[in-house]
Amino acid sequence: MLAQWRARLQFLVLSLEREARTLRSELMTGTVSELTRERLERLAAAHEDHAQRLTQLLAPLGLGAAAAAYETHLALRTRLPSDQGLTNYYVNLHRDWVWGDAENEASLALIRSTASGHAHWGSTLVLGAGSGRLAYDLHMQCAPQLTVAADFNPLLLFVARDVTRGAKLELYEFPIAPRRLADHVLLRTLAAPQPVRPGFHIVAADALRAPFTTAAFDTVVTPWLVDILSEHFAQFAAQVNALLRSGGCWINFGSLSFAQGARAQRLSFEETLAIVTQAGFGEPAVGEQSIPYMCSPASRHARMETVVAWCAQKEGAAALVSREGPTPEWLVMSDRPVPQLEDFKVQAIATRIYAYLMALIDGRRSIQEIARMLVEQRLMAQEDAEPAVRRFLTRMYDDSRRSGS
Ligand SMILES: C[S@@+](CC[C@H](N)C(=O)[O-])C[C@H]1O[C@@H](n2cnc3c(N)ncnc32)[C@H](O)[C@@H]1O
Repeated sequence: MLAQWRARLQFLVLSLEREARTLRSELMTGTVSELTRERLERLAAAHEDHAQRLTQLLAPLGLGAAAAAYETHLALRTRLPSDQGLTNYYVNLHRDWVWGDAENEASLALIRSTASGHAHWGSTLVLGAGSGRLAYDLHMQCAPQLTVAADFNPLLLFVARDVTRGAKLELYEFPIAPRRLADHVLLRTLAAPQPVRPGFHIVAADALRAPFTTAAFDTVVTPWLVDILSEHFAQFAAQVNALLRSGGCWINFGSLSFAQGARAQRLSFEETLAIVTQAGFGEPAVGEQSIPYMCSPASRHARMETVVAWCAQKEGAAALVSREGPTPEWLVMSDRPVPQLEDFKVQAIATRIYAYLMALIDGRRSIQEIARMLVEQRLMAQEDAEPAVRRFLTRMYDDSRRSGS
């Protein structure tokens, strides 16, 4: 996992440096207005500095140990799964430690009212704690003896560690829809209201294989987590059950927009609650409320989310749910042969055609000539080839303009 995060960091740094170069090359065209120049210069400088700040913050990952070209990372899909990149939840850092209290207080208030019957927070585990604000607020305001904030994203964890200890961290914010020119990039100071009290621990861990003994906790909190996990919800509910002592509570909070590949796993509110009770929990207390979500003061873009909270008490052990699709041996053991799965074969052919097509672009051939070669290679029928090549190149061209490369 460390190697994967390191590769993602390297790809991120290369992407930021590349973006800075693209911004600077647009500046060189000489046709931009003074205001545009100011914006592009600010952004270019910020991207360079941002890359350095992230490299420094994530130095314990040992960036120097990995070296590969930007294109290699693209080919190896370092970015994927795209929903769990290093900076996917980057904006949460600013929501947690910069933008003020409205969102964080609304979250805590809904959790507290839903869990009002839960008197003993005891040892509390927050799974998928991100950069830690909710875990910090719970520790400071609900008086657990011990709070463990666990996540697997090192960027979020390092920020959580530094800020909760009382450090002030400077990191850039890039708002989605900046209000003014100066809002296109802002160097923000991340800080906690005060250093966290003793008993607060940050642990790098996979929530699906949480490294704690059975029944170690009185409370398990899962904020904005259950619907983004790759594991089936029933399997995860059984794992939460195992982490709790009898009588302990599972407090969930956030969205329920399951987007798994299997349609049967795109659970509704009702199916989700039914699975909670089937996993050894009593009837949960449920709260629902519309709260502001990711409302940067520098952005015109903001969301309202109707979030769900539940507090479910453990009544007994969960029945064992077999793990869907455990990681195959050849993925874990580096010396096992990689099987030619049907999907892999199709991908391999598609990639070869793609590489062939790209190799035909040599700065001299026209669409007509490229189409003729595809027909000669029997990759396409005569009448389809030319429109297909045009469509393909249009898409490539549009993509290149969108990504600014
Ligand atoms: C939608 S974010 C929510 C973060 C935080 N709870 C909040 O409300 O801001 C989901 C979080 O779960 C973490 N996460 C996702 N899958 C995980 C896993 N298998 N193990 C540990 N953390 C995970 C991500 O790194 C991210 O911090």
